[in-house]
Amino acid sequence: MARPAVSFVCNACAAETLKWQGQCPQCGEWNSLEQRVLPRPAAMPRPAGAAAAVPSVVPARLVDAAGAVARLPTGLAEFDRVLGGGIVPGSVSLIGGDPGIGKSTLLLQVAASAAPGRAILYATGEESLAQVSMRARRLGLAGAGLSVLAETDLDAILGAARAAGAALLVVDSIQTVQFAELGASAGAVTQLKECTAQLVRFAKTTGIAVVIIGHVTKEGAIAGPRVLEHLVDAVLYFESEAGSRFRIVRAVKNRFGAVNELAFFVMGEEGLKEVRNPSAIFLARAAEAAPGSIVMVARDSGRPLLIELQALVDRMRFGAPRRVAQGLDANRLAMLLAILNRHAGVSLQEHDVFANVVGGLSLGETATDLPLVLALASSLRDRPLPQSLVAFGEVGLTGEVRPVAFGEERVREAAKQGFKVAVVPQGNAPRKPIEGIEVRAVGRVAEALAAAGTG
Ligand code: TYD
Ligand code: MG
Repeated sequence: MARPAVSFVCNACAAETLKWQGQCPQCGEWNSLEQRVLPRPAAMPRPAGAAAAVPSVVPARLVDAAGAVARLPTGLAEFDRVLGGGIVPGSVSLIGGDPGIGKSTLLLQVAASAAPGRAILYATGEESLAQVSMRARRLGLAGAGLSVLAETDLDAILGAARAAGAALLVVDSIQTVQFAELGASAGAVTQLKECTAQLVRFAKTTGIAVVIIGHVTKEGAIAGPRVLEHLVDAVLYFESEAGSRFRIVRAVKNRFGAVNELAFFVMGEEGLKEVRNPSAIFLARAAEAAPGSIVMVARDSGRPLLIELQALVDRMRFGAPRRVAQGLDANRLAMLLAILNRHAGVSLQEHDVFANVVGGLSLGETATDLPLVLALASSLRDRPLPQSLVAFGEVGLTGEVRPVAFGEERVREAAKQGFKVAVVPQGNAPRKPIEGIEVRAVGRVAEALAAAGTG
């Protein structure tokens, strides 16, 4: 079936439509559609002997039945988990992150250990072959099926992946590849979008999985991978705290799995190692209990995670009291201060208040309310909470403590990590006792303070 010779591409999000419209149907931007006259994907060379119908039949089945298709294991269980259980054949994943964070290291490790027995192509426009093989040797990567190609021309990369019969193609990075037909005059953003669009078509028509590496630039989103997010099946971001050895891979979009899954790695001499028990990192606490410190069971990363929260309450020095929240919502902190004042008789109006999530994580769930309230009271009274205590729960404006999702799972995780007492919302009290941990179910903020010994 012949396709129209022209189409319209949104210059904000690169979505494609067949007729011109004032507003992009994908991203809602106005006057952003531009006509384009580009060679159609059918112009891509086919492997000799392949029937014309084959490429358009195979991918549809592969993609629609994603659940039934055998995913490719990456050899890194943590990475598989964020992807939803491995890489889906014919899928395109984008992994973004700051330069130098370890994207090439991670993907080289994945390329060397993914899909044993299958061919994998790692195409790099960032480094020379010598540099990549030196790194592979240093990391002790055997990778019998791994081929490395130093190339920036997109057609050459796709040709090589096809010729190798690759199961997986890694493109490092999208900022370095060029689609020659666009010509040198095409802007960087046009190149980015067009190369990504070509890679998506390639993956869908061949069933070869593609992982694209993209640098996120500090200056802003436009030249970075964000404009590519809607084109691909999965978007992962590679993050770390400045100066920390720990690396977090976060899924922000995943057509084949859950979002907001986190995978933890540590960067060492031998590349990235998985951290199977991340609670252990975030719980490297001081030996002695300190006022203002509490451990909570978070769950917005797709699994229960024990994390230390800290609050520091200090007599206000001048002007208006300061409220500073790191990794927590500052508005929520202000709300909790008002609730403490009104419903628990704890006034911090004359105090500067600082709240922090240890380890540089950001927590967006309401389950941080109750532990934060306890930490604030603990700091104000200069009375440490027991180190064996955990808490979680939402706090409402009327001073009530409200249940959060996965209550029992959180308590079990705390027990598994050796905690002895859990202060939890009444609605989250487990039906049966959980071995090794005493659950103190509370209905009101004032009750919670008393249950934790800070009342
Ligand atoms: P790299 O994967 O090149 O980052 P990206 O591709 O995201 O730009 O990682 C670069 C950093 O990682 C560099 O500062 C060195 C460090 N590194 C280690 O600490 N250990 C290792 O084994 C490797 C390969 C890199
Ligand atoms: Mg790199």
